[in-house]
Amino acid sequence: MSEIIAICNQKGGVGKTTTTINLGAYLAAFGKKVLLIDFDAQSNTTSGLGFDYKKLQKTIYNVLVSNSSLEEIIYKTSVFGLHLLPASPDLIGAQVELDHFVNKEFRLMQILTPIKEQYDYLLIDLPPSLGVLTINGLVAADQVLIPIQTEYYALEGLSQLITTIDLIRRNLEKDLRILGAILTLYDRRNRLDRMVAKHIRRNFPGYVFDVEIPRNVSLAEAPSFGKPIIQYNSFSDGARAYRQLAQELIKKTEKPINDNFSINNK
Ligand SMILES: Nc1ncnc2c1ncn2[C@@H]1O[C@H](COP(=O)(O)OP(=O)(O)O)[C@@H](O)[C@H]1O
Ligand SMILES: [Mg+2]
Repeated sequence: MSEIIAICNQKGGVGKTTTTINLGAYLAAFGKKVLLIDFDAQSNTTSGLGFDYKKLQKTIYNVLVSNSSLEEIIYKTSVFGLHLLPASPDLIGAQVELDHFVNKEFRLMQILTPIKEQYDYLLIDLPPSLGVLTINGLVAADQVLIPIQTEYYALEGLSQLITTIDLIRRNLEKDLRILGAILTLYDRRNRLDRMVAKHIRRNFPGYVFDVEIPRNVSLAEAPSFGKPIIQYNSFSDGARAYRQLAQELIKKTEKPINDNFSINNK
């Protein structure tokens, strides 16, 4: 079994990168072989794992626009079983260069297919937009995982994203499933957060992960030390939450998936 999971939300700052790094690290800690694909020009997954893109000869950009071999660009991280395909700001240019490719939406999929079976999970950290990179990520993926910040406009962004996913399914004839949504940056002392969380759970029954990722200072600090939370502060609430998320995700992906995800905004 090998699953490619796109971590997607067109909004910035909702915890995509934090989820990619820490979910990935805990999946690896549970014995899974994991590849993280940094597909955002901001390269936060790359730096958050302690890599300096300025010192990397090649990144995902080179594989994307030329035919650099993938093997020399996959790096081992400080977590056993967790590998990284890093990004650099060059990725901004890739958006234009991809235009020259036939089937440009399928570029990342073509790249990942030959190595897919070497991993249990491949997590793609996507940029905060619905541009060509995000489309590539969604097309390459088997499933989408949506981090949602518990704030007032959360549901609006979510319906936009689901429309995009539907378009990809229909126009590119792609079987893309929604694995679920994760409530992030959650402050349970805040009444609005609790209300939004309840609302989202009610509208997406069965699709929201049980665990809520709390707003937690260790999670915010860890990337500046180039470490996932499991190595920075494994006793923090943030660590506990990502550990539980990894367990839930393993359970969910190892059994058949019910695909009736729809917005019921009544
Ligand atoms: N649960 C959390 N608690 C505290 N800070 C968080 C949490 N999740 C993310 N952050 C911080 O919020 C900012 C945005 O998170 P990030 O994961 O980079 O979002 P995105 O990738 O969606 O833009 C970062 O500075 C990150 O460290
Ligand atoms: Mg990010």
